[in-house]
Amino acid sequence: MIDFKALAKKYGTPLYVYDLHYMSAQYKELKEAFKGRKSIIAYAIKANSNLSIVRHFAKMGSGADCVSIGEVRRALLAGIPAYKIIFSGVGKNDEEIREAIEKDILYINVESEAELQRVAAIAEELGKSSRISIRVNPNIDPQTHPYISTGLHDNKFGVDIPTAKRMYIQAKNSEYLDPVGIHFHIGSQLTQLQPIREAAEIVADLIRSLQAIDIELKFFDVGGGLGIKYDNEETIKPYDYAQAILGTLTALDLTILCEPGRFLTANAGYFVTKVLYEKQNGEKKFVVVDGAMNDLLRPSLYNAYHKIEAITDNNGEPREVDIVGPVCESGDFFAKNYPLPTLNRNDLLVVHSAGAYGFGMGSNYNTRGRSAEICIEGSEARLIRRRESFEDLICLEQEFLVE
Ligand code: LLP
Repeated sequence: MIDFKALAKKYGTPLYVYDLHYMSAQYKELKEAFKGRKSIIAYAIKANSNLSIVRHFAKMGSGADCVSIGEVRRALLAGIPAYKIIFSGVGKNDEEIREAIEKDILYINVESEAELQRVAAIAEELGKSSRISIRVNPNIDPQTHPYISTGLHDNKFGVDIPTAKRMYIQAKNSEYLDPVGIHFHIGSQLTQLQPIREAAEIVADLIRSLQAIDIELKFFDVGGGLGIKYDNEETIKPYDYAQAILGTLTALDLTILCEPGRFLTANAGYFVTKVLYEKQNGEKKFVVVDGAMNDLLRPSLYNAYHKIEAITDNNGEPREVDIVGPVCESGDFFAKNYPLPTLNRNDLLVVHSAGAYGFGMGSNYNTRGRSAEICIEGSEARLIRRRESFEDLICLEQEFLVE
């Protein structure tokens, strides 16, 4: 049991709390699922990019899936070796591509023909060959929220199979490109195995057809997307996930690379916020807390459900309330019509499953400093990012003030 009251007292609120033991257990379970096969778990840093969290995964042997050169730098700084870092994203600029090649990361995930040409041109300027993988869009409906679905032709990600094939041939014929991998990622918060299996089959077939023309790849990168329980949803067991993928690879000797984000960190994280007021407008009851959409955007952006636990001495009958923050937007809520007992000022609400896409999607909207982040390991707690001060928020503007 985590003593949220003591943590809130010591570190203040709003506060992110991450349980490192939980993250380790998730990592081990997934790694174990691919036992007997060469595999790299490349943590998708975007889910939670705090350096101490990335360092924690680095110590466990994790690689990193990055989507900006900033993330690549974070991964290296946190101790992830370059040979376990991959770089994806539809819009890498020249400087990012150059730095990725110079840093000699495992490979760049290329997402268009135009990008392939840029990578080749920059590698030539540097007099080096660049390892690449191509992100294939298998046109599979992942049956998840449309905002986090990525493997349909309607989505901006990757290239279709005929284009991918053409690109592999171009890469093979280029002195400056070394095609080593293939990649797909059909979406996030996946709770069905079938779309993953179908996508893996399509991509494995492409690998076989490439083999027939002497293009031998080493890495089969299945992206991220493993869903977690926010509520009572059925989720995919890592073992079944691994079996479904491995089942498509008969007679192919490939290293499996997977890019989990949410699976590793979401349920290790809690967002702790304090009750400021209760109020009622007509029939509608509100609990106003000190955290807001700038701290945790998922409910506002996706209408996402997060379980919320009240820490209070009151144990009256729950009533339905909207839990809202101080930001000047009607969309600033953590839950609507949520059952909670009557609360007192300074009671705490703990928002669960906040360890992925929580802090990282935060902002300074309404000139609100970002929350502090702490991690716990057993009974030990440690500050891993201090609360932002007003001075932090204005420091990049202040020097430009004119009289
Ligand atoms: N690999 C690629 C290429 C990705 O685009 C993503 C996530 C991942 C791996 C990691 O996916 P995960 O294992 O975490 O599902 N902000 C949204 C999620 C956006 C995911 C973007 N890409 C949310 O809060 O649900």
